[in-house]
Amino acid sequence: MSKRVFSGIQPTGQGHIGNYIGALRNWVRLQDEHEAFYCIVDLHAMTMPWDPKVLRRHTTEKAAELLACGVDPDRSVLFVQSHVPDHAELQWVLTCVARMGELRRMVQFKDRSRGESESVGVGLFTYPVLQAADVLLYQAHGVPVGEDQRQHVELMRDLAQRFNSNFGVTFTLPEAWIPEVGARIMALDDPTQKMSKSDMETRPSSGLMLTEDPASLTKKIKSAKTDSGTEVRAGDGKPELTNLLTIFSAIEGVPVPELETRFAGSGYGAFKAALADAVVAALEPIRLRYEELMGDPGELDRMLFKGAEKAAAVAAPTMDAVRERTGLGPRAVLTPQ
Ligand code: TYM
Repeated sequence: MSKRVFSGIQPTGQGHIGNYIGALRNWVRLQDEHEAFYCIVDLHAMTMPWDPKVLRRHTTEKAAELLACGVDPDRSVLFVQSHVPDHAELQWVLTCVARMGELRRMVQFKDRSRGESESVGVGLFTYPVLQAADVLLYQAHGVPVGEDQRQHVELMRDLAQRFNSNFGVTFTLPEAWIPEVGARIMALDDPTQKMSKSDMETRPSSGLMLTEDPASLTKKIKSAKTDSGTEVRAGDGKPELTNLLTIFSAIEGVPVPELETRFAGSGYGAFKAALADAVVAALEPIRLRYEELMGDPGELDRMLFKGAEKAAAVAAPTMDAVRERTGLGPRAVLTPQ
């Protein structure tokens, strides 16, 4: 039996090329060889202030985006986290297994709370425990993610191991499957920061959206920050070019040294124009398919409910075992009044 994979994405606005290169295109590849579970994590999206209507809309839009990227609900299980209540239930049990110290060390929490840990929501602190519940519920081996999620996957392993040794072997230990190229795509206007959905709200030119129109993509790439030199080369002292070459390499499947040879002596202008063409060629089919799918949001929601039914059937035996081993006992079966 092939290894089971699980991954998630937050419905917090339009996805960007970093999501695509770091995670989504691997989701698409993996669904052929593995039993794949892909989850739109709406409960995680509540860890920052949210508007209920916007959350609902973004959840449907995220489904369209994932399908447009090539996630296929016939070859994988695509669903919304809150549709399967076991995620929240297992999170509670794991919260009681997790330690303050290990959560305090999470880099994402430190970044998002920006040192104001007294005033941010508690959900932001326990975020990685919910993420652990997501994966452990499905006994997944592989977690295809970008580099920024490595620490969260290590925490899941630690929690699974602790639970297994305290209560008996219940969970598979997952591992992060991080791509060799493009695991951390940086912002176009600042190569010291990763490209991120939240930064794109205040600095739109920092990232390339998956559903952005070609003219806008081209403009952003042409005005992406570069150093004052002329040499199209990756490596020390050239973080901007390294990032642009990485994007090129990932979407064309051509190694960076080959691109360096191709663009030797051609200058940044010609290189950026070629990169813009490559990005537009990769993203244009995604944008068109996304728009088509958004023409029938009802159909997307029906597809998500079917996915949740399949997911719930796989999650339930794990949750039953957890309940039994931790002394909670079986769930009540409610008889209709
Ligand atoms: P999210 O929604 O922030 O990101 C979705 C995926 O995109 C990857 N990613 C990137 N990869 C390369 N370069 C970038 N600049 C970049 N930005 C984002 C992320 O690594 C991620 O794989 N916590 C997760 C969601 C989650 C999850 C899970 C993931 C919830 N439960 C269980 C795996 C398993 C997150 O915030 O993803």
